[in-house]
Amino acid sequence: MTDKSEIVLGSTAGGGGAGSAEMEHENPVAGLFDDIPGEVSVPKPDPILTAKGVRRTFGGLVAVDVDHVEIQRGAITALIGPNGAGKTTFFNLLTGFDAPDGGHVELNGKSIDGVASHKLAARGMVRTFQLTKALSKLTVLENMMLGAKGQGGESFLKALVPPLWSKREKEVEEQARGLLDRFNLTHMSDEFAGTMSGGQRKLVEMARALMTDPEIVMLDEPMAGVNPALTQSLLGHVKQLRAEGRSVIFVEHDMDVVRDISDWVVVMAEGRIIAEGTPDSIAQNKAVVDAYLGSHHDEELDFSDESNDGKADA
Ligand SMILES: Nc1ncnc2c1ncn2[C@@H]1O[C@H](COP(=O)(O)OP(=O)(O)O)[C@@H](O)[C@H]1O
Ligand SMILES: [Mg+2]
Repeated sequence: MTDKSEIVLGSTAGGGGAGSAEMEHENPVAGLFDDIPGEVSVPKPDPILTAKGVRRTFGGLVAVDVDHVEIQRGAITALIGPNGAGKTTFFNLLTGFDAPDGGHVELNGKSIDGVASHKLAARGMVRTFQLTKALSKLTVLENMMLGAKGQGGESFLKALVPPLWSKREKEVEEQARGLLDRFNLTHMSDEFAGTMSGGQRKLVEMARALMTDPEIVMLDEPMAGVNPALTQSLLGHVKQLRAEGRSVIFVEHDMDVVRDISDWVVVMAEGRIIAEGTPDSIAQNKAVVDAYLGSHHDEELDFSDESNDGKADA
């Protein structure tokens, strides 16, 4: 259990877009990181996920070489770094979508080395993709139902006993409809996912990830390609995950977003973790600024406090 605090994070979003004003999301880990030094590999009070010596090479390229990182339970951790830093590859390694050349990953203190992604969902971990994977020829509701664990029909016994199967299916559908409602997607239930905008697909993907009631949700660029109005809604949903006690790791480029919602920031460059710290300390970290400017002169790292009005980044 995390210690509850009464601190409520107000939305820092400018303009008070429709629907955002009434949302206040308690941060159960507010203040937790105040005394944790901003150092690479620093231990966390209660890590949900730990990676040790995780390495992945593609030919001669070292895509990921992470010595040690701990992800705090119940917090929102941002994973940032220039394009090609290895963020997506690291996500793939943590979530069983790719196998490391070496190293170990622990979820809740237990090894998940070699555990396939679909089994990790049953152990409390889900992820979304940088490029959404909603199945375009299925409806939104069907996409949601596919996200459920213990989906009916997979078990021989259940297949022999149709009443059991349909009871489970009813429950799954109810759960899917509840989540669609929470994400304001009810009106889209019967639409084919292929007809939705990129931003709506991102919402569906996040909603679908919750079908397994995960402890930890890993979001790869959840805000990419999403229009500003929908971005505020997505940010609210991410904060809500934390308010419910879930852990979140997300990849993001926009430092305004990172500052708004994350408790802790992990910075990757050229496969390695080069810095960790609170959002404010990271903005002043010379190694971080150098990593962005050094390898990607074309890439803007916006550390300003001013809102940039949700200016779409590439
Ligand atoms: N399947 C692959 N085969 C070869 N190289 C890859 C593959 N996946 C990623 N890479 C390379 O690994 C590096 C890290 O990529 P990636 O993890 O996608 O970075 P990021 O998500 O931080 O932008 C890049 O140089 C990329 O080209
Ligand atoms: Mg990526």
